Amino acid sequence: MILRKIKLVNFRNYKNFGINFQKNINIIIGDNAQGKTNILESIYTLALTKSYRTTLDSNLIRKDQEKFIITGEIRDDKIFKKLSLELYKNNKTAKINDNVINKISDYIGNLYVILSSPDDLQIIKGSPSDRRNFLNIEISQLSSNYIKKYNEFNKILKMRNDYLKLLYTNSLGDYNYLDILTNNLINREVDIYIERYNFISKINEYISEIYQNITEIDNLKIVYQPNVEFKDYERETIVKALSDKYRMNQKREIMMGMTLYGPHRDDFSFTFDENDIKIYGSQGQQKLAFIALKFAEIPIFEEKTNTKPIILLDDIFSELDKTKKNKLIKYIDNDYQVIITSNDTKDISKKILNNANIYRIKDGKLIEKGGESNGRTK
Ligand SMILES: Nc1ncnc2c1ncn2[C@@H]1O[C@H](COP(=O)(O)OP(=O)(O)OP(=O)(O)O)[C@@H](O)[C@H]1O
Ligand SMILES: [Mg+2]
Repeated sequence: MILRKIKLVNFRNYKNFGINFQKNINIIIGDNAQGKTNILESIYTLALTKSYRTTLDSNLIRKDQEKFIITGEIRDDKIFKKLSLELYKNNKTAKINDNVINKISDYIGNLYVILSSPDDLQIIKGSPSDRRNFLNIEISQLSSNYIKKYNEFNKILKMRNDYLKLLYTNSLGDYNYLDILTNNLINREVDIYIERYNFISKINEYISEIYQNITEIDNLKIVYQPNVEFKDYERETIVKALSDKYRMNQKREIMMGMTLYGPHRDDFSFTFDENDIKIYGSQGQQKLAFIALKFAEIPIFEEKTNTKPIILLDDIFSELDKTKKNKLIKYIDNDYQVIITSNDTKDISKKILNNANIYRIKDGKLIEKGGESNGRTK
């Protein structure tokens, strides 16, 4: 899949802006606060109808304006498609080839992107809930079953927590009803555990090799850490372990008025040679670990969607030494379309730069485009 061009009208700091991309590597250069990230954000928003940087859509509209329009043209094998997304007075309109698409699920999936942003460092440095959030977002894109079970799980979890509180204050409460809630909860939890476990296992098939290619450090791994121990991830094993856990902790859960075990308490960590990267990793090692995680998602998405995603890399070079920068680019310089932002081209090898399309952005305007193909799509 190739994004040939995007047009932005009143999106963030862009008034009326257009940019053509080439097939392989595109590098957007500019000083701080000129609009580099905004370009990647617009592509992400066009793909998924919402941004990763704000939950409030209206923040995306250029100040003092009332609507934004993002238009993109994609080429997918022999197909040309025009996508557009418009936001006006809290109403979003998504179009494919100028036809309005009413169901969001019919729209999403026409443009696949994988984005690595500096905010991703939170996956490593942040709290377990940041990591669970990451799992939810990524797995939701791959499995509609996951979204369904996860939403049901959340509803039942709330009901069960409310009922535990009620049992604490009312000694005549109905324990059979608690059992029903517990069984319903377990029923959803099993799917969530299995999907999370499978996703992490898939990531582990790729992440170590990617990390080693860039850093020469071996054995990067993601370790799934649910707060219930499972011998394996077979359905029966999980159901049994959860039932035992809830049975043994019933009194405690009633006293605390909440469900103490389950996927809402999951975590995972990045380890290299058994060391937690959050504790032992340098800044650069941590940064490369989440980039490796994103790269590991590429083949997983590709397998699932049968198309090559567009790779958006926001500010991936800062804090990396010259060798790592070049290894990183070399690693992705193949069949993928990649759009990278950076403050400068310092340290990037001539050979890579000659093959890339370079854009300079200043104050929401394209002031220069260069590189071999001069802005035209190869
Ligand atoms: N809704 C908006 N309307 C107008 N301008 C906006 C809006 N939202 C953000 N901006 C402006 O966009 C600019 C930030 O753009 P962006 O985040 O793309 O910067 P950047 O080039 O990626 O910088 P850095 O190198 O620091 O990451 C800021 O000047 C900000 O004030
Ligand atoms: Mg930025």
